[in-house]
Amino acid sequence: MRVIVTGGGGYIGSIAVERLVKAGHNVTVIDNFARGHPASVHPSATIVECDLRHGAATSTAVRCAQADAVMHFAALTLVPESVREPGAYFETNTGGGLHLLEAARKAGITRFVLSSTASVYGEPESLPIHEDAPKRPINPYGQSKWMTEQMLSTYADRYGINHAIFRYFNVAGATKDRGEDHDPETHLIPVALKTLLDGSGQFTIFGTDYDTEDGTAVRDYVHVIDLVDAHIAAIEQLDQPLGAMNLGTASGFSVQQIVDAVERVTGQSLPITYGPRREGDPAALIADSSKARETFEWSPGNSTLDQMIGSAWEWFQANPRGYKD
Ligand SMILES: NC(=O)c1ccc[n+]([C@@H]2O[C@H](COP(=O)([O-])OP(=O)(O)OC[C@H]3O[C@@H](n4cnc5c(N)ncnc54)[C@H](O)[C@@H]3O)[C@@H](O)[C@H]2O)c1
Repeated sequence: MRVIVTGGGGYIGSIAVERLVKAGHNVTVIDNFARGHPASVHPSATIVECDLRHGAATSTAVRCAQADAVMHFAALTLVPESVREPGAYFETNTGGGLHLLEAARKAGITRFVLSSTASVYGEPESLPIHEDAPKRPINPYGQSKWMTEQMLSTYADRYGINHAIFRYFNVAGATKDRGEDHDPETHLIPVALKTLLDGSGQFTIFGTDYDTEDGTAVRDYVHVIDLVDAHIAAIEQLDQPLGAMNLGTASGFSVQQIVDAVERVTGQSLPITYGPRREGDPAALIADSSKARETFEWSPGNSTLDQMIGSAWEWFQANPRGYKD
């Protein structure tokens, strides 16, 4: 299949490209590289440097790719930044999403996979979170993604674009050649590993009085390879609409469990400090992923803590300056 991967220079997108190429697909990456890295793109993929905020350029890029399917990863993804600059998030995530949908419609593309997020649920009423749970995002990042989901559903009904929407919880891990290189880095596992690599600074655990077993917040982590493989299964099954699906393991890990695993896997001690809870951080977020498991016979077999942390640690050790090397 010919597949467009937007955000193919980013963390998850670049690993999607790698796995798509390995599976024999022909890939075009659309990215403005504002937050991604040309060096992360697999050499077999075609790169089109294009900003999704520009509708005409996006239409041209999509038309020229002559694609059968779109995987849409490109986005701004930092919650605190979205609170400071909501317009930027609506412009890139929602406006850019609209430009891409219009371009796909005009190019006759009927398979569309969207990266979405657990942030669309806001503070959950019950766990695990089912896809039908109320959508009450509490920040502009989550709002921008929820609006994009709604636009895609409308385009799917109106224009017959078969769609899959994947709501990710926490994504971790690396392949041998590709990993997480964000600036700033905000995700727990890479922050912990970089603290060890740098050999300076402190690692802060925010909140120790949550209503969880050890008092620290609990999240649902999935290995990036398992996550991406669900997307590849989806484009192959999108001769009918699949709708929205959570991607997680349904077994959460606490921040303390992650810290313990990081110390075990690396054989090093983290310099830990304790801080107060961060505003808007729920005690636990755990996915009900039974729909994805049933639809694709999906089983996140790489998503043990040791595999996620171990693969990320190997990548960081081999690439201490990320893609700058
Ligand atoms: N990483 C996670 O744990 C996580 C969790 C939930 C959801 N998600 C979603 O997964 C997707 C990928 O996340 P990631 O961690 O790989 O992010 P990332 O920041 O590493 O990659 C995003 C990519 O999009 C590109 N991009 C940004 N604005 C663009 C624009 N206007 N035009 C073209 N390209 C643009 C960036 O240059 C970058 O390469 C995002 O949609 C994100 O919301 C990620």
